[in-house]
Amino acid sequence: MSATARKTALMPTDILAAKGGTPLVSLTAYTTPMARMMDEHCDFVLVGDSVGMVLHGLPSTLGVTMEMMVLHGKAVARGLQKAMLVIDMPFGSYEESPEQAFRNAARLMAETGAAAVKLEGGAHMADTIAFLVARGVPVMAHIGLTPQSINTLGGYKVQGRADEAEALLAGARAVADAGAFSVVLEKVPANLADRITAEIAIPTIGIGASAGCDGQILVVDDMLGLFTAFKPKFVKRYATLGEDGEAAIAAYAADVRARSFPAEEHIFADTAPVKGPAS
Ligand code: KIV
Repeated sequence: MSATARKTALMPTDILAAKGGTPLVSLTAYTTPMARMMDEHCDFVLVGDSVGMVLHGLPSTLGVTMEMMVLHGKAVARGLQKAMLVIDMPFGSYEESPEQAFRNAARLMAETGAAAVKLEGGAHMADTIAFLVARGVPVMAHIGLTPQSINTLGGYKVQGRADEAEALLAGARAVADAGAFSVVLEKVPANLADRITAEIAIPTIGIGASAGCDGQILVVDDMLGLFTAFKPKFVKRYATLGEDGEAAIAAYAADVRARSFPAEEHIFADTAPVKGPAS
């Protein structure tokens, strides 16, 4: 089956229709096994450009390429049957013009089977969002802390406090009016996230925002405790797989050095006598 023929139970129109209902559940994924684990539990799965930091050890998301997104997008698609697949447009793949954005969004969707793309930016991306939507590309917007802009934002700070709030609200309205089917609100004050959720007609997906958003998303390696370089305040760790994994690796190393692994149950017997060297 080609990637473009892929079909999951949920579509962007279903996500849009979920506004104001049971909160939407979402996580990022970058590999097939992770996607399989979350398929039953998530409404949509995002192949986030966080893949650069989480799996490739990059210092930020700025070095993530289209090739990386296609590779991980295909892997995640193989693990999903029910949850909708959304894929991030990497830095530099959409900001130049609506035409550039369409070319790269179409490639991501055609090669991975994703049902939608996500891109960062508020009012200044509205024309691009409208251009994409008019040409069959469903867009999830992403405002507040937009990690691809850390160099202009001055770091990973909370966005939309005090006199920045109105501009963020205007950005949310602009992406909704442009036709985005949902919008990620990252690291914004809870009262502002609640106000945006009340004032726009598309679902808000919170990450470091508010429990009042229409849905939530987390980076899966953060919530499983696999990514331990740092832990943002908004992350709740539901497991400690990083620590558990390192303890398991240490136990394996000790077993190998003590010749207690492999044990009887891990090796193969041969009933035929072992022949000595030919004389
Ligand atoms: O890249 C990513 O993982 C994201 C989510 C955290 C929203 O954009």
